[in-house]
Amino acid sequence: MLTRACFCFCLLFAVTLGFKSFQHKIPNGDSVPHPCKPNYLWHGVGHENELGGGSRNPFGRDFDAAGKTWTVELCRKDSDGDGRTNGEELGDPNCIWRENAIPDKNAFSHPGVCEPYDSDLCRSKNTWVQCQKEEFKCDAIDSPDVKNVTIRYPVTSVPSQETTYFCMTFELPQDGDYQMIATKPVIDNEYVMHHILLYGCGESVTKADTVPSSCGMGLSDCQTVIGAWAVGANGECSHKDVGFRIGQNGFKYVMMQFHWNNYERRSDYNDSSGMTLYYTPNRRPNDAGIMIIGQTFLEIPPRKEHVETTSVCTADDTRMILQGPVYVTRAFNHMHYLGREQYIDLYRNGAKVATLTNEPDYSYDRPRFIEYAESIQIFPGDEIRTRCVFKSTTKSVTTFQGDATSDEMCFGFLTVHPLSNARSLQCSSWKNASMVSLFQSSDDCDWRVFGNASHPDMAPLYQGVYMHCRPLGQCLEECKEAVKRFRSHPCMTGTRGEYIMWNAGNVRTFEALSFYSKVRSCDLEILREQLLTQTTNGDDTNVGARVLPKLSALLVAAFLALFL
Ligand SMILES: *[C@@H]1O[C@H](CO)[C@@H](O)[C@H](O)[C@H]1NC(C)=O
Ligand SMILES: *[C@@H]1O[C@H](CO)[C@@H](O)[C@H](O)[C@H]1NC(C)=O
Ligand SMILES: *[C@@H]1O[C@H](CO)[C@@H](O)[C@H](O)[C@H]1NC(C)=O
Ligand SMILES: *[C@@H]1O[C@H](CO)[C@@H](O)[C@H](O)[C@H]1NC(C)=O
Repeated sequence: MLTRACFCFCLLFAVTLGFKSFQHKIPNGDSVPHPCKPNYLWHGVGHENELGGGSRNPFGRDFDAAGKTWTVELCRKDSDGDGRTNGEELGDPNCIWRENAIPDKNAFSHPGVCEPYDSDLCRSKNTWVQCQKEEFKCDAIDSPDVKNVTIRYPVTSVPSQETTYFCMTFELPQDGDYQMIATKPVIDNEYVMHHILLYGCGESVTKADTVPSSCGMGLSDCQTVIGAWAVGANGECSHKDVGFRIGQNGFKYVMMQFHWNNYERRSDYNDSSGMTLYYTPNRRPNDAGIMIIGQTFLEIPPRKEHVETTSVCTADDTRMILQGPVYVTRAFNHMHYLGREQYIDLYRNGAKVATLTNEPDYSYDRPRFIEYAESIQIFPGDEIRTRCVFKSTTKSVTTFQGDATSDEMCFGFLTVHPLSNARSLQCSSWKNASMVSLFQSSDDCDWRVFGNASHPDMAPLYQGVYMHCRPLGQCLEECKEAVKRFRSHPCMTGTRGEYIMWNAGNVRTFEALSFYSKVRSCDLEILREQLLTQTTNGDDTNVGARVLPKLSALLVAAFLALFL
């Protein structure tokens, strides 16, 4: 089994290498849209097979004839005969692009496939184009005990912005004690659907929504990912011994989060996608959960061939979050368009014991669930290392971690069981510190108190900054002292403090940004004081009474960065 997997994998890798070396010889060579699968890329631009290899298509033949270089003649030619030049289709309409330069525009369409794909002009030319997607295979769903329920958004207007996150809560069947064992996407508008995450909700959620709503910040009581779909996937089929508990003794409500990618920013798109969930009363031996690992701090400089980031869920972290061993049945790498390679390895006592994922040919459009012939065990005290490799040669600005397709991510999702052995499933990092260590409350830093602006210990600190400081860098003498007091709180020192100040920049509400801009307003003056090693004895007057009512919620939001 393993040998066969390796064989296929190596074969794919060998084929892939062929066209990869040519991708950078044409403008936008690694981001040419697929003519009949919206949201997909055609990776082997010069080939009839979208993954590369085999016969060449009309553009591939012209590229070959041009000596495998991007010449002005090749650029002005219309290889596929659809009325658009190769340059127009690839985002170099003026034929000025040179290797390693950033093209004028994004690739608009495919230079080797006549488009629109099924127009009268093109149909006869496109007989070789493969448009079918792979069928979903999961034998278990055909078993007579397996029931299904389909949850879908009502027809909803898609906002005319590139990236939108919408959420809607649904009630699950509660007439029994079930396990969910498979999911299948129901994609209505494939021009905008980018991914779906299905979150299990906590006990506090007792009612379903009737319409979806915007949820960019993702603050809610539904935090456990139990299902996922992304462009290119056709469904999920659980390992035979495992299911996600739903119904009377499991999740009663789920939140379905959509990421719509409205690339053309059209205002007339609707969508009513969703998922079919398959569930059974004949429960399997184990309940499953999804562990999240990876790096939440990314700062990828532009124009780089190879940018690497690593993160570690440490031995201390796994000791903290696991109270017994868990088995991994499946893993899933996740980066965005700059992502090229991702690896997740398991270490025990400093030595590598297993490879969880190994994707040297990662592509965002081809998400792969990596399954194992034999489940991989993680013990408390093991270490999980994640390494992501990005290529930013097409970018002219720094890329940060974030939600948008134009931002980047580096996460691994591990499906683990039994759930009863995990206290938490969150083990991602921020820079070199794990979230577990950042959010572990200690004697001097209790997060619940720190995030509560009306708590008597905290109110004077928040109010001091709120009352005495002005945002945007006008440092007032009284503000300097208020900021020093706020920043000397144990939760605001060291890597934790650095994290909070960094994350404040991600909170997109005016009140929170204004507050943190006030905190920042005296940075230069405080730095100057430190340099001069002057000591100041500030005036400790507290201003009572007024507390920003929304502050608590905003601060909590700032700490609980949601990752997808
Ligand atoms: C759901 O189950 C019903 C029978 O209960 C079946 O007819 C139907 O095809 C199933 N739907 C899907 C999407 O599998
Ligand atoms: C979107 O939905 C609205 C309201 O249901 C409808 O009027 C409109 O025609 C729909 N647009 C498309 C493109 O289907
Ligand atoms: C992380 O790096 C900072 C400074 O770069 C250092 O002070 C800190 O001790 C490091 N933490 C860990 C857990 O390695
Ligand atoms: C915040 O602190 C106040 C005062 O101690 C307390 O009454 C309130 O319940 C706390 N709020 C939260 C959300 O913990």
